[in-house]
Order: sequence, then structure tokens, then C-alpha cells
Amino acid sequence: MQKASSALQPVISVDRQSPKPLHKQIYDAYRAMIVGGGLQPGQQIPSTRALASDLKVSRIPVLTAYAQLLAEGYFEARTGAGTFVCSSLPDQVARPTNGNSAKHIPQSTESRFVAKRTSVLPTTETAPPWFGLGAFSISQAEYNEFPTQVWSNLTLRHCRNLQANTFHYGDAMGCEQLRDAVCNYLRTARGVRCESQQVMIVSGSQEALEVSARVLLDPGSSVWVEEPGYWLTRRVLTFAGCRLVPVPVDGEGLNVAAGIKKCRNARAVYVAPSHEFPLGVTMSASRRLQLLDWAERSKAWIVEDDYDSEYRYDSMPIASLQGLDSNSRVIYIGTFSKVLFPSLRLGYMVIPKDLVHHFLEARRTIDISPAYLYQAVVTDFIREGHFARHIRRMRQLYGDRRALLVKCLRQEFRSSLEVMGSEAGMFLTVAIPKGIRDIEIAKIAARERLWVAPLSPYYLEEPSRQGFLLGFGGVLAEEIPHGVQRLKSVLSSHMSGGSRKAASEAAPSS
Ligand SMILES: Cc1ncc(COP(=O)(O)O)c(C=O)c1O
Repeated sequence: MQKASSALQPVISVDRQSPKPLHKQIYDAYRAMIVGGGLQPGQQIPSTRALASDLKVSRIPVLTAYAQLLAEGYFEARTGAGTFVCSSLPDQVARPTNGNSAKHIPQSTESRFVAKRTSVLPTTETAPPWFGLGAFSISQAEYNEFPTQVWSNLTLRHCRNLQANTFHYGDAMGCEQLRDAVCNYLRTARGVRCESQQVMIVSGSQEALEVSARVLLDPGSSVWVEEPGYWLTRRVLTFAGCRLVPVPVDGEGLNVAAGIKKCRNARAVYVAPSHEFPLGVTMSASRRLQLLDWAERSKAWIVEDDYDSEYRYDSMPIASLQGLDSNSRVIYIGTFSKVLFPSLRLGYMVIPKDLVHHFLEARRTIDISPAYLYQAVVTDFIREGHFARHIRRMRQLYGDRRALLVKCLRQEFRSSLEVMGSEAGMFLTVAIPKGIRDIEIAKIAARERLWVAPLSPYYLEEPSRQGFLLGFGGVLAEEIPHGVQRLKSVLSSHMSGGSRKAASEAAPSS
């Protein structure tokens, strides 16, 4: 069998009825693509044999056209490698005039209709200035401690062993073996009541939020959300056209009575009862029961986001809310983003049995099925005990880092910074005295490569608190004391006017 050409086939066609000779048509088409930027300098082009075969013409007109293009310097031949667009085309030729050129960017968007729902999403800054890698990034785990060798071996094992059925579309609920492994894990470690037929593998909790919104909610549905709360949940609900009802979170978690007062007949509530984001509160037992009771009476759904509760340092992991629910009102969502790594894009949800078919159809419509390879790798990672071992090791490491961070905060700020929430997860939140604008401080800190996420943007309504989320997952223990000192110096040195008093309260000289 002849070796297939590795060059992409350009969009070239020939018209046999045209009076223009075939070689001239091919020549003109290539020239136009090069001048138009459709083919880039240095890009390989198909061999004459491959192009003749694709165009279903004899090789002679192709050879003639290539010879002309070579002679004029549009093409260059590289011995043993093939034919390429000349890498040193004159500027006026190489300058693209294709879709990237300014000339093609419409000057007005007035008549360019897009769905109205696109306008309800607030624009996300490409990278909020306080999101970087290092102290105290909230979205960073300790990747240096990830068992990369084990992971690579498992990945290689599955890459070498790809069967015909693993190339094909998979089960829309996810790979059966992974669903079994997740089901077993959730029953044992999270107190979730489930069978593997209820487990759907998704691409991170974000997809689970999206699928659940499509299945459970209509445009205009009222939905309780935690105030302050996870911004990406809100975006999903906003995009779905829902009416968001911010329900305050206090020391016991979501205030159910306040929710009932605001909107008794909401269709659903989105909560993170094990470790509320961003305040870090664990929902009390009585609030859990109140929430389940309200949901049953109002025929509402509870979407439980259990994103990082593997990591608890002061007590045993708190069992899921789903495990307490005897009316199948809870849709449980979890993720591998925190315990493994976020670019994996794998998560899972546990769906009440009678809703499984609705979720399945929605999922099929959105992305057909999850990608196979990493599902297989994660299955083995769990089955062979690496998952449990990794969590145990990281719990110890993160617990130590958290304790050190709290100690340093107390040393530097004494009691003037309130550390909120329970001892869990990979971040903690501190409240700062009134009068200091957390966004301003976060921006100033970011200029010094200190990443402290401000608390106030997580509120839908007027923020009742200002503060920062400090991630400790990806910060080496030896960097923590220095990081806290830098935070203190940012707070004390960058304040002026009315906020100076507040700043000095927040950053007392030691
Ligand atoms: C509250 C909350 N839920 C879920 C996630 C994880 O999302 P995903 O699984 O889509 O990566 C995060 C990540 O930071 C989060 O903060």
C-alpha cells in the first residue's frame, strides 16, 4: 500500500467543462490561496500524486501547475520531505487577506443577530487579575505531588490496548466500569445512596450543572442560590433564563427560612452543603433537614454540589445531603477536578432513578457521550487503590498547609482578620474590616504576584462582607509565612484616606 500524503488537502476544485486548462485552474487556485492566506508560508502541500488522485485528474496537469509555482517561488521543494509553500514569501504576498484580516471584520453588529440569551451573561474577564499560579491561588492543587508515573503507566496501558469498541461512541451515561467504581466510592466515602445505573459521568461538575438545568428548569423558573455563591452555577442558571433568588448563607449554611420567605415556590435550589463556596461553611444537620422538608413540600429539586469534601481536616468527612434524602429530591454532583486535576474534565452526578432517562436524553443532545480514554484510566486509578492513597496523602499535606496558613494569619493579623468556614477544602476565606475594598486590594496584590481572590464579586446583591479567598493547596509550606507577610504589607501600605484606619486595623504592626 502506498504511503498516504501527510499534507492537508487544500480546498481546490477543477471544472472540466471550463475552457481554462486544468493546470491553469490548479495554478490559479494555489496562487489565490497563498495570496489570500489560506495556505501559510512553510506549510506542506500534498504530493502531485495525492492531489491528482483527490481531484480525479491525471498527474500531468498537476505536475505542470506545481512546476510553474516552483518556478515563480510560491512553492519550494525539500529533498526527501516534499513540497511546501515557500517560507520566505514577499511580505505583500504573505500578508493574509483571509477571514483574519481587518477588512473582513464587520464594522457594525447591528444586523448580526445572536440569541437574546447571550446578552444576559456578564462578560468574563479573560483572566481576572487575581487569578495566577502561586500563593494564594484558589484553583490550584499541589500538582508536584500527583503520582505522575502511575498515571502515565495507566494511560499508556490503555493507549496500547485500544480496541475497536473503544474507538466508537461510548455509553451516554459513561463507561460502565467507571460508573461502578464511582458508585462504590460514593456509597462508601460520601454516604450517597445510589446504584451505578444512576451515575452519569460528565465533563466536570460544570456539565452536570448544565444538564441538570436543562432537565429540571424552564426559562423563568425561580431558583434559590447561595448568597454569596459559586459564580459558574449562577451563569448556568442565568443562561437557562432562570430567576435567581439569592438566599443568605450564615454560620449554619443556607438560611432555609429566609429562602422560604423570599420565594417559597422556587423550582430548585443549588447548594454546596459540605463546604459552601466561598464562605466554607458546612450546613448544619437541622438546616439539611429543613431544606429536604421544604423541597418535599414544594416539590422542588435540590442540586447538591459536592466539589471538594474529600478534604476535611477537623473531623471525618461529612456525609452527603443526598444520603439523608428519602424522597429522591436531590441530584448529587461531584468532580475529579480537586482530587485529581481540573484539566481532566471528569465529574459525575447521581440522578434520581425516575429522572435518569430525561438526563440521558439531555446528555445525548449536548455531547453524545464522554471521551473514553481517561474514563478507563480513572477507573484503574480507583480500582488499584491509587485514588484512595492519593486522597489520604493530600489530605495530610493540605491539612498541614491550612494549619500553617491559619497560624501565620493569626500571628500577622491577630484577631482582626476573621478566618471563616470549616477546616476543609483547598482554600479558606478571611473577612476584612469594613471600609477596605477587597477588589482594589486584590488588584494591587496581583501586581506583586500575590493572588488573593476578592470575596465581594461572589455576591449577587450588595456584598455584606469584604474579604479574600486564600488557596493553600498549591502553595509550598515554606512560601506561606512570606505570602502572609506580603499580604499584610499590601494591606497596610496601599491604603489611603478613609480606608487607612481600616487597613491598620486589618494589619496591626506586630
Ligand atoms: C463550588 C464549585 N463547584 C465545582 C467546581 C469544580 O468544577 P469542575 O468540576 O467543572 O471543574 C468548583 C471549582 O472550583 C467549585 O468551586
